[in-house]
Amino acid sequence: MHESLLIYRNMRYLKWSLALVAIACGLYIFHTPIEEPNGGTWLGYTLGTIAAGIMFWLSWYGARKRSYGGATGRLEDWASAHVYLGLALVFISTLHSGFQYGLNIHTLLYVLMMIVVISGVFGLYFYMRFPRLLAENRRGLTTDMMLNQIADLDRDLRKHALSLGDESAHIVLNAVQNTRIGGNISRQLSGKDVDCPTSAARRFVEQFEGGHDESTRRQLVTRLTKKEDLLGRVRKDIKLRCLLQIWLFVHVPFTFATLAALIAHVIVVFYYW
Ligand code: HEM
Ligand code: HEM
Repeated sequence: MHESLLIYRNMRYLKWSLALVAIACGLYIFHTPIEEPNGGTWLGYTLGTIAAGIMFWLSWYGARKRSYGGATGRLEDWASAHVYLGLALVFISTLHSGFQYGLNIHTLLYVLMMIVVISGVFGLYFYMRFPRLLAENRRGLTTDMMLNQIADLDRDLRKHALSLGDESAHIVLNAVQNTRIGGNISRQLSGKDVDCPTSAARRFVEQFEGGHDESTRRQLVTRLTKKEDLLGRVRKDIKLRCLLQIWLFVHVPFTFATLAALIAHVIVVFYYW
């Protein structure tokens, strides 16, 4: 669904949005109010009302996504129209404002709306790229399955550590006990651990030839390499999901802030009218 969102139904919603923007631009060019163009002329009010309508409709998308029965229209239509009307909103609201900006609630509304739209563009990129990236990275496994495989490898490594010399045993046990997955936001976003004890143990065992026989050494290297690969994939999985969470934490709360500012804008405008 996400890949086809932009070309859905022969780009019907792109065409509708372009038509809407073209009409708004045409009216704006031929509109010659006595004062400078602004939100208070008949065209200003018309474009403002259209912008507010689009804004409320776009905000409704979260509820639509979660309503499975009795909803109107296919979700794909909503998603595709959401993207194109969201972008059209930038043009409609800019023409509505007559390019008049200042340090006031009206411009605050405009800035908040732009944050939602810009975050939307990032979200679109994530939603189009991530399903494939996640699937390729998981290679048919779920995150839990990968974590279980890591736990199995750890059990094996612990067993092997018993037959090793002190130094090797210490390093292998350190890999079992102190390898960290996830953590705070910046660790999750980095998608890797440069001081990963498992990588350190793999490097050590690869290079260190004394203290254990060759077959044990090879088995250790195989298991540590496998664990390293799984760790890399789990960390990448966490990174991608964390990016999506952060994106939603911007797009949705700023939507509510924009709606609040829009209501305030309309009240202020009518109050001073
Ligand atoms: C997403 C929707 C909207 C956005 C982003 C928006 C944004 C703006 C901005 C940036 C201005 C310029 C303020 C200035 O002159 O400093 C403005 C002016 C204005 N807006 Fe809106 N607006 C929206 C919706 C509406 C609606 C629904 C109405 C009323 C029905 C409205 C009525 C006005 C009026 C009357 C002005 C002129 C205010 C003045 O010149 O003092 N706007 N708007
Ligand atoms: C001011 C304009 C916009 C508003 C108010 C808005 C609001 C929302 C809301 C409320 C959701 C639902 C989030 C959830 O609960 O899961 C959403 C999802 C989304 N929005 Fe927007 N949005 C706007 C503009 C945009 C733009 C311009 C784009 C892309 C260019 C965009 C891309 C997306 C994407 C990709 C999703 C997730 C789609 C999915 O889950 O299928 N949005 N938006």
